[in-house]
Amino acid sequence: MMRSLINILDLSVAEIDELVAAAEDIIADPGKYADACRGKKLATLFFEPSTRTRLSFEAAMYELGGNVLSVSSGSSSSAAKGESVADTARTVSCYADIIAMRHPKEGAPYVASINASIPVINAGDGGHNHPTQTLADLLTIHREKGRFENLTIGVCGDLKFGRTVHSLIQAMSRYEGVRFVLISPEELKVPSYVKKDVLARSGIPYVQTENMEEVMPELDILYMTRVQRERFFNEEDYLRLKDSYILTPKKLVNARADLSIMHPLPRVNEISVAIDDDPRACYFKQVLNGKYIRMALILKLLKEAGK
Ligand code: NCD
Repeated sequence: MMRSLINILDLSVAEIDELVAAAEDIIADPGKYADACRGKKLATLFFEPSTRTRLSFEAAMYELGGNVLSVSSGSSSSAAKGESVADTARTVSCYADIIAMRHPKEGAPYVASINASIPVINAGDGGHNHPTQTLADLLTIHREKGRFENLTIGVCGDLKFGRTVHSLIQAMSRYEGVRFVLISPEELKVPSYVKKDVLARSGIPYVQTENMEEVMPELDILYMTRVQRERFFNEEDYLRLKDSYILTPKKLVNARADLSIMHPLPRVNEISVAIDDDPRACYFKQVLNGKYIRMALILKLLKEAGK
């Protein structure tokens, strides 16, 4: 089977270091990579809305000199006629060299990967995982902090349905001295499988709280997230919970001077625009880093596939 990226743990710690180093090299000298994927095609199959993830994959492939084939909604493809993910994956393997897939169903990119004859990258599967957002987050953490070890990471918002949260916790749980502060309303706590299979298993200390201001002074990183409206069973619960946390300059009064404020975006209300000019705001850096690390990932997977 082709090497794919479905879960962030598909990559070893050493491979993460290599991807971060490769992205840093691309940032330093992008011209060197301008022809690296000449004649190669990336298919982006997005069955859920996206701005950053799809466009950053496409920009990444163009900047590597490659081409892009794109399905940007389920309703415009044969998925709307009832075609299975497996058949779609077999079909696209006839046209492209690598696939980036986003799907509302957990596990769909995995099903694609076992049916495709080309590498498949999970670009977000339901409320489950989002490994390439985590790669963007890791590159950002590396550039901001210079390390992955010895960090207290506050993760705030929808920790239940937020797939970027699940992948980030998995990735960071492999480093020494990492500690999590999980900030959410009772109903949006991290799922128990993440607590049992990831945090407890790796012996990573964590606390759960509903109070952001109380824990603020401890944090090296504050990772804000959007309440995931599309995963709620009813609109009433969403409306009640959507503004649980709104980061304003006032709430940062006791924060560290070297705090990194992150957010995978899109933001709705979680971070006041008054914070955008604060030097601690990193969310638009994450957007740009996402393109560079996806360039590094495409290069790696195509190379391993012998393309
Ligand atoms: C995230 C996602 O799709 O999970 N967006 C992204 O890819 N940067 C976060 C979100 O939608 O809230």
